[in-house]
Amino acid sequence: MSKNDNSIYSKALLLSIVAAVTVLIGTIATVFVPMFTEGMHPKTDGLKPFTALELAGRDIYQAEGCINCHTQTVRPLKADVMRYGAYSKAGEFAYDRPFLWGSKRTGPDLARIGGKYPDEWHIQHFESPQAFYPKSNMPPYPWLKNQPVNADSTIASMNALSFPYTEAEVQELKESTKLDALVAYMQVLGTSIAREAAVTVDYAAIPAESPLKGSADAVAMGEKLYKAECAGCHGVNAEGNIGASLVDYSMNDMPGNDTYYIIANGFEGAMPGYAAKFSNEKIWAIVEYINSLKDK
Ligand code: HEC
Ligand code: HEC
Repeated sequence: MSKNDNSIYSKALLLSIVAAVTVLIGTIATVFVPMFTEGMHPKTDGLKPFTALELAGRDIYQAEGCINCHTQTVRPLKADVMRYGAYSKAGEFAYDRPFLWGSKRTGPDLARIGGKYPDEWHIQHFESPQAFYPKSNMPPYPWLKNQPVNADSTIASMNALSFPYTEAEVQELKESTKLDALVAYMQVLGTSIAREAAVTVDYAAIPAESPLKGSADAVAMGEKLYKAECAGCHGVNAEGNIGASLVDYSMNDMPGNDTYYIIANGFEGAMPGYAAKFSNEKIWAIVEYINSLKDK
């Protein structure tokens, strides 16, 4: 630049001030305006602040490092949505401080775990994941049921986060174990939007007659699948546990398409549906296995 250049670039102080003001305007527009604009912080309609017990469970989730093996966000990818249900929306996480989205899926995503299983399933699964899936590398957490939650610490957190709570909740908290809290937290995850089954099968679309009827191979294949996926809830010999006895069920001689329908779709809050996980043939094989139980 020549000596008699009169432009702003030759005036160091003025340039610094103008640059600082410009950056400041940019910062206000992109950081502070969104921070204080309500519409930039969407909440899904069904979203509620965590209850005291749920928040205590959330603290345990963080303390136990569950985030190292589990994510809490369903990506908008077809494979994710088929497996876990509706993809995660920004408005679901308004009360998550900090976010527990995670980045490692050694175990499945938990964003839609609420309502997928009954409480009793979680209680037994935390006691021993291997009782359900022998090859699971999730550690057992049997001590959780023996340790009370730290009620004072949770109430302090509730106050700090400005979450509302009642005296009854405080009382419940004082009488709860860490296991109660963690199960309550599992059951609320992802429930602020209506839960859609990953895949649902129409009754009318299921053939009335099993295409594998009478096949011994199908019974053997069905038994293997049953032992891997269903035995945790219905008992190793289908004698019943969290779910009904399927030996008793088989006595009713239910039509195959009824049984197929139950396995494919499950029951809300009690039993997951298997339509996304198993092929048509595999579901019929399990139906054949269940039918074979009445002869035993
Ligand atoms: C070492 C990795 C690991 C850790 C740590 C771990 N998990 Fe898991 N988790 C898994 C795996 C693998 C599975 C799938 C097999 C099974 O269900 O046991 C699983 C399954 C689950 C499921 C069932 C998911 C479904 O849709 O069926 C829940 C719920 C769960 N874990 C919660 C937790 C919580 C809560 C913690 C912390 C207290 C935790 N996990 C810690 C690996 C882990
Ligand atoms: C998370 C636990 C759980 C798992 C896993 C599970 N079920 Fe169930 N199942 C239940 C519960 C609970 C019921 C009872 C639901 C009800 O009647 O309200 C049930 C009901 C049933 C019924 C109807 C029984 C009746 O008497 O009406 C059948 C058939 C069945 N399950 C088959 C299966 C098969 C096959 C699998 C594996 C592919 C399976 N279930 C996996 C919990 C489970």
